[in-house]
Amino acid sequence: MTRLFISRDSTALSLGAEQVANAFAQHTADRGQSVQIVRNGSRGLFWLEPLVEVETPNGRIAYGPVQEEDVASLLDAGLLEGKSHPLYLGNIEELPYFKNQNRLTFARVGITDPISLEDYLANDGYKGLKNALALQPAEIVKHVTDSGLRGRGGAAFPTGIKWNTVLNATGDQKYIVCNADEGDSGTFSDRMIMEGDPFVLIEGMTIAGVAVGATQGYIYLRVEYPHAKVALNQAIEAAYKNGYLGENIQGSGKTFHLEVRSGAGAYVCGEETSLLESLEGKRGLVRFKPPLPAIVGLFGKPTIVNNVISLASVPIILDKGGEYYKNYGMGRSRGTLPLQLAGNIKHPGLFEAAFGMTLRELLYDYGGGSASGRPIRAVQVGGPLGAYMPESQFDTPLDYEAFAAIGAVLGHGGLVVHDDTTNLADMARYAMEFCVEESCGKCTPCRIGSTRGVEVIDRIVANVDKAKNTELLRDLCDTMLCGSLCAMGGMTPYPVLSALNHFPEDFGLHPAKA
Ligand SMILES: Cc1cc2nc3c(=O)[nH]c(=O)nc-3n(C[C@H](O)[C@H](O)[C@H](O)COP(=O)(O)O)c2cc1C
Ligand code: SF4
Repeated sequence: MTRLFISRDSTALSLGAEQVANAFAQHTADRGQSVQIVRNGSRGLFWLEPLVEVETPNGRIAYGPVQEEDVASLLDAGLLEGKSHPLYLGNIEELPYFKNQNRLTFARVGITDPISLEDYLANDGYKGLKNALALQPAEIVKHVTDSGLRGRGGAAFPTGIKWNTVLNATGDQKYIVCNADEGDSGTFSDRMIMEGDPFVLIEGMTIAGVAVGATQGYIYLRVEYPHAKVALNQAIEAAYKNGYLGENIQGSGKTFHLEVRSGAGAYVCGEETSLLESLEGKRGLVRFKPPLPAIVGLFGKPTIVNNVISLASVPIILDKGGEYYKNYGMGRSRGTLPLQLAGNIKHPGLFEAAFGMTLRELLYDYGGGSASGRPIRAVQVGGPLGAYMPESQFDTPLDYEAFAAIGAVLGHGGLVVHDDTTNLADMARYAMEFCVEESCGKCTPCRIGSTRGVEVIDRIVANVDKAKNTELLRDLCDTMLCGSLCAMGGMTPYPVLSALNHFPEDFGLHPAKA
């Protein structure tokens, strides 16, 4: 039977993938053609979605972007045999956008049926857990430490150190919490992997549990991700049924239970301590640190809180060894980062690459420049608290330290691209407004400072005491940077100051006086 692949990913669905899948089912049935439609994850080339792939003796042949009304003509042209058509793309893996990636964490996304355990096992799934079950806990943690993996949620803290702290902490109960709140603007890698390969996250969390002696895990899932919730719950059910979750995992005597919990719909609930409060059923208020969650975490017990991508990168590390993963990347940024291209960009999508490529290569060689065809003026990297980078910084390599050196952050790897019609003073104001909306209210620099920040920017733009108010804005940013309890207030100055420093003319300031 011929197999067709049409994505179940939210992006593809929003572009009409469901209607396309239904049309293929209907038209092939009408023609007496026997096909199996697999609802896979997305390959991440969003400008080609809805993408349809057909399995042929010469590999998978792709067509896209396909709409419902194209289905009849595609079948007439011989899509089932991989024949030519105006929407013919050939083998997707040969396109430079795909071919030049280093797909380690996303190895199976777009290839397998996300909720088929059989498919997962047939494509190297659960090899990492198998190896982990044969190791001592400290040996598992050592692989993660050796890999050089740093947290992909934003702060880039070494994952091995965090795991080691929980391993050595004492407690009658320990927890693994997956931060799947993914609140950053322009980011979607967590969602894509949860929808496109949920087992890899489940496997990563199970390995974490075995490594530190935690028997319960929770996935704190952004409430706006209903499709991810369905995929995760289906995969968790299959894992339980087949002895990959629960008691005595694969006869090892180890136990790990896993549940999905819906987030509270607040950006600050992605901050790890606020997340733990929310998971405990309380309002998402940030906790003081110390104590670290690794020592006093969920319900006061030692807890690993890791981002989805951090945990989903663990299976390949345990499968191939820490050294294998470490061989990718540059400097202290080891392995790969799934970069997410969004905003005004011709080729939006997901691009998993080893650290080290420059921002310019990513934007132009793969992103294809702006969607509008106008010059790219600024790129905000790392979510709503990330700096706006001007063209003069586009040769910066994608590396945590290189970004930090110029006052920018890589964060969760999301890029929002702006052309020359964007006013950066508006963006700076928006950053302060965002902080007003999302502040948890616990500390003064963030709660009050963000409101004053909006007012001061308004005064600068309105030409009221320009020099004095610009100085005041810088002073306020300094207070927020140094005096906020968490990175919400502490990083809001990044977009504000970068806009002010690199685009002073948008504030009506002379570049020399900025
Ligand atoms: C305001 C705010 C929002 C955050 N949102 C997220 C988020 O949505 N997802 C995430 O993984 N980390 C988020 N973080 C970072 C977490 O606090 C924490 O560093 C991370 O979950 C640790 O996992 P990692 O080491 O694997 O990155 C946020 C931090 C702040 C200050
Ligand atoms: S910086 Fe903002 S979000 Fe963070 S603790 Fe202070 S008030 Fe809450």
